[in-house]
Amino acid sequence: MTVNGRTHVIVHEARVSLLDLLREQMALPGTKKGCNEGACGACTVLLDGARINACMTLAAACDGRAIVTVEGLASADGTLDAVQRAFIAEDAFQCGYCTPGQIVSAVACIREGHAGSATEIAEWMSGNLCRCAAYPQIVAAVERAAAELGAAGRAVHPSGAVQPATVLSVRAG
Ligand code: FES
Ligand code: FES
Repeated sequence: MTVNGRTHVIVHEARVSLLDLLREQMALPGTKKGCNEGACGACTVLLDGARINACMTLAAACDGRAIVTVEGLASADGTLDAVQRAFIAEDAFQCGYCTPGQIVSAVACIREGHAGSATEIAEWMSGNLCRCAAYPQIVAAVERAAAELGAAGRAVHPSGAVQPATVLSVRAG
């Protein structure tokens, strides 16, 4: 699979979830484990550009596909993505645990063209729960990023260029 623009060849147990693979085998802890049962959105990543719950996705089902996690949104030089900057500008987090999932979901929400109003954003971000209830700031951040990105935000795929293959780990499965 390709993760954040780099191709990895991984052997893993057939039952492992994409979330556990990312966090435990690929050292990408930005994707959070909240409920681990598809109810909170903390584990949101992009799979071929569409947002999914990584806890409900078998890693084996991602063979040959492109994953983007929150770690893959910033540029290689560390420049933050427009959505990441907007979350900071709007102070759209308290404890921050839901934030990576919110940001990844917001990237897709804007690209899908579902950020036309606060009401629309709230509806299309409703799969991402925030136990701190930072929802007004989160909606404001999505509005800010959508305004900055404009039409370009709906055309750019955030996965970036595919890099040469890297063998990350090989484990008996
Ligand atoms: S951890 Fe995946 S939806 Fe909650
Ligand atoms: S900022 Fe704490 S759960 Fe959202």
